[in-house]
Amino acid sequence: MKNITVIGAGTMGNGIAHVFAMKGFAVVLVDISQAALDKALGTIEKNLDRMVRKEKISEADKAATLRNVVTSTDLASGVKNADLVVEAATERLDLKLKIFKQIDEAAPENAILASNTSSISITKIAAATNRPEKVIGMHFFNPVPVMKLVEVINGYGTSKAVTAEIMELSEHLGKVPVEIKDYPGFAANRMLMPLLNEAFYTLYEGVAGVQEIDTVMKLGMGHPMGPLQLADFVGLDVCLAILNVLKDGFGNPKYAPCPLLVNMVAAGKLGRKTGEGFYNYQGAGKDLVVAEQFA
Ligand code: CAA
Repeated sequence: MKNITVIGAGTMGNGIAHVFAMKGFAVVLVDISQAALDKALGTIEKNLDRMVRKEKISEADKAATLRNVVTSTDLASGVKNADLVVEAATERLDLKLKIFKQIDEAAPENAILASNTSSISITKIAAATNRPEKVIGMHFFNPVPVMKLVEVINGYGTSKAVTAEIMELSEHLGKVPVEIKDYPGFAANRMLMPLLNEAFYTLYEGVAGVQEIDTVMKLGMGHPMGPLQLADFVGLDVCLAILNVLKDGFGNPKYAPCPLLVNMVAAGKLGRKTGEGFYNYQGAGKDLVVAEQFA
């Protein structure tokens, strides 16, 4: 594989482009918004700068990585030479089905089509294409250049050869892939989201405050981030979408999203990306500041 096309220039898309480009792949990063593409290139550069500062890569590695990424606002031309397409668009089934139909029409016949979806059925996505055996989940974790895990999700019709190729490719990227079956939330979010949801309820019911909840999990369980900070980091809209997939997919109300989460998403408080969630990220400084609502 040489040519990788990444669809979606958000947090996950730019991270995925970053790791492929750093390994020497030719990456086309596609988004409908030129502003999003420009911002993504800036983020990749900033993250490469950090790696240079930490002496993990050289200035020459940084320059080579940046040279390996080109951008496009046209999906059809962006995928036309792809060996692998990794879709990392917004977490909405209707959007993903539309995108996969377009990719299937424009990408070479032998290209593998992967989705970075965090919970939407790979089998459903594959059904929008004429190549279900070549459709697979490749679920990276944020921050992509740092987190080692890739969940490799086999849809109902994914061929064994395609799975083997994606497992090998993930290892080549320096990641640790694990094979997962295609059920709601796969493995990671089936376990993570109930934990985050319980943290939302713990706050909502007034059992403890924002900092107290996060301190419990950081210092009591050794988590690098508390669950509320992690939810802000993931995006509260993403958490809500995944909880709904779990609730509907299993038909089990135990996954019902906490009303506080629902309200925060309705208010546009989506976490770090909008400047406020459980914490407020607008001030300078590195210290976490609890959002006014919860102070
Ligand atoms: N790009 C490149 N490198 C980065 C980076 C980025 N965006 N962000 C941090 N780093 C590197 C730093 O350079 C640093 O490297 P060294 O250890 O070699 O010095 C290392 O990561 C740690 O960074 P910091 O010291 O700045 O900060 P930290 O110790 O607080 O770690 C963190 C930051 C890695 C994000 C850590 O807090 C963490 O692991 N948090 C939990 C992240 C997590 O759970 N992610 C999964 C979210 S769920 C998901 O993504 C999937 C889903 O479907 C919802």
